Formats: sequence, C-alpha cells, structure tokens
Amino acid sequence: MSEPSISTGKVKQKSYRPFDLEKIRDDFPILKREVNGKPLVYFDNAATTQKPIQVINTISNYYLNENANVHRGLHFLSEMATDDYENARLKVKEFLNALSTSEIVFTRGTTESINLLVSAYARKNYFKEGDEVIISHMEHHSNIVPWQLLRDERNIKIRVIPITDKGEIIFEEFEKMINEKTKFVSIVHVSNTLGTINPIKKIVDKAHNFNIPVLIDGAQATAHQKIDVQDLGCDFYAFSGHKTFGPTGIGVLYGKAGLLDKLPPYQGGGEMIRDVTFEKTTYNDIPHKFEAGTPNIVGAIGLGAAIDYIRSFNINDIANHELELLKYGTEKLSEIPGLRIIGNAGNKSAVISFVIDGIHPYDIGTIIDTYGVAIRTGHHCTQPLIERYGLTATARASFALYNSLEEIDILTESLNKTINMFH
Ligand code: ALA
Repeated sequence: MSEPSISTGKVKQKSYRPFDLEKIRDDFPILKREVNGKPLVYFDNAATTQKPIQVINTISNYYLNENANVHRGLHFLSEMATDDYENARLKVKEFLNALSTSEIVFTRGTTESINLLVSAYARKNYFKEGDEVIISHMEHHSNIVPWQLLRDERNIKIRVIPITDKGEIIFEEFEKMINEKTKFVSIVHVSNTLGTINPIKKIVDKAHNFNIPVLIDGAQATAHQKIDVQDLGCDFYAFSGHKTFGPTGIGVLYGKAGLLDKLPPYQGGGEMIRDVTFEKTTYNDIPHKFEAGTPNIVGAIGLGAAIDYIRSFNINDIANHELELLKYGTEKLSEIPGLRIIGNAGNKSAVISFVIDGIHPYDIGTIIDTYGVAIRTGHHCTQPLIERYGLTATARASFALYNSLEEIDILTESLNKTINMFH
C-alpha cells in the first residue's frame, strides 16, 4: 500500500478557538436570512447542516483558481487539485484518528459507503445462504435496505436488535443473537430519529470476541462528538460530508487497511486500476481501488475545509453546548401540554423527536415554518423504528453548534401558537 504524497503542514492543531456563539453564527451566512418574514431558526441539522463561510470560500476558490482533474495530469492545476484532494483525505484520517490515509475511501455519502461495503463483501462471496447479519431497530433505511438487497440475492437472514421504549438497544438480546452464523454487525452510532448514542465500544468488543466485523453508521455523530475509530475499535465507519458542515455528494468509508485490502472493487473504471488489458485487469492500491472514475474533488476539498472548521474548536466545547441545548429543549418542550418526546435514552445527542396530541406532525412543521422555524417531520427514513412506537411520523428538532437557547424559546412559542390554533 502506498501513501499518497501529501503535505501535512496545513492540518496541525495548535490552539482552539474560544466557543463564542455570536462569532460562530457569523461564520454561517444563511443564519442571517429571514424566512416568511421572520429570522430563520434552523433546527433541521440531522437532515443537513449549514455551511460556514470557510467551506463556501474553499469551494468557490477551487472553481475560481484550481479546477482540474486529479491523479491524471502533470500540469500545474492538476497537481494542485491532486494535492488538495489528497490533503483532504489526510484531514479525514486525522479527524477519525485512522492509522493511515489508505483507510479513507471517498464516497457520495453514508448511504454509498454502506452500499459499497455490502457489495464488496457480497462480491467476495463472504455471505452464503443462512448467514446472519445483525442490525438494530433504530437503523436508518440506508443501513436496512442494502442488507435486504443482499438477503434477497444470497438468502441471508437479517437479525434486528430490539430496543426499549426509551430508545436504547437491549444489549442482552444482541448477545443472545450472536451465533456461528453471524457474519456481520452493522449499527448506527447516533440515531437520527431518537438521538440515542449507542454503546459502540461495547458492541464492537462483543462482536470481536466472535471475530465478527462491525460497521458503524456515523452520519449523525461526526458533527457533534469526537470520533476515534481506533478507540471505538470498529472495522468500518461511514459518514456524510453534508451532515458535517461540508458539501453534499461527498462522504467517507473508513475501513481497517487489512480488511479493505482484501475486498474486491465496488465499481470498475478509471482510477481504480493499475493495468488493463482485454484479458485481465489489476487494481490500484487502497483507497483508490474503491474510487472509480473522476471523484467528487471539490466535495472532498470542501469536506476538508469543514473538518478544519470543526477542528478549530475543542470538540468538547461543541458537545457541551449541544448538551445544554438538548437539556433546555427537553425541559421547555416537556412543559408543552399534550407534547410527548419520542426517545429518552440516557445517553442522547441533541435531537428531539416529538408528537403533539391531536395535531399531525406535518401540520406542526408547516405551521411553525410560518414563524421561520425549520424542523423535519415524517418517518425520518426510519419507518420500522417509527412503527415500533405505533406512529407514522414525528416532528423532529435537531441542533448544531450554532443554535441558541433563544431559538429554542422561539420553537416553544411557535409550538404553543400552533396548539392554540388547533384548540
Ligand atoms: N437522514 C436524514 C435525516 O435524518 C436525511 O433527516
């Protein structure tokens, strides 16, 4: 495996920015806009985060000054784009505390990362009839459907770890599920609907006792807490750029080098090859083996800028601020008559799903939008989970580092006004 040639100078952290909410909000130009004549209150961060000016400028600078294809030309711009693209990989490696940049595969997002892995494992004939894969009841569709596609192709069985009413996985049930047929465990780090933070280290330890590889869907974790894949011990970790203050269309699959190296390619094309003849093709080293075709160059570079942004703070400051938002939001929303919070795990990220007696979540979302408040309503791409609570939809407020307690007051006020309209 060869390390790409990259400059390491840009990513070293010296000191952290103080956590100054006003200054942070200034970094996000969109937060200054009005919606329906009211200041925007953006509480749909689990769907996508807003982008700081540092990311926006990086993207615009790329197209203004350096646009070229990567790994192909020897000309100035191509070398510059290649250097920045590979430097972004280095930033991701440091962000996740991976061992090597060869463990960082750029994808379109978490969904593609999971599909890549399932397809590559399937192509390797890793799964045979009767084998079992364990997921949990709180998975996003992107960690259910790829396994169902595999199930239908290979006749495998999907086992689902049940959860409590509070929204925590029942670990003992997981332990009971593991047997000699278990081939893979794939589980979400932070639930996009409930906010539950799963005990990943405990799950990985248990699975590894039986030599079972573990994939973590980290889509809702990376913008909110420190991620250390070596500490978590997981074999694979997937996340999305756009939920991490970066652009859409870029994501990451982290995989332990020894495991990625053994997997066949996901897609064929340029870039992923070493030599091609009509008779035989040999493949590039990891991670390039998994990056067929011209990659999302500007996406990766933009993600690199988003990672620089997150790493300019002490991540604990971000986590503490969001915990304060969660506590305050939970308190305020719980005071609203007829409102019920769905998901009350002991270890929870700043996501509050709720329902209100007699008002459909879509009506809640539509009405509070008129007050400038953006939340998500629906099943949040977790239909089996929503059904587990006997529901078809919830309203969901999800917070990020730039949100304030005052915005939660606006949410509370707009929900009270909504209730008054209905009663
Ligand atoms: N998975 C994203 C969400 O939870 C889209 O909203």
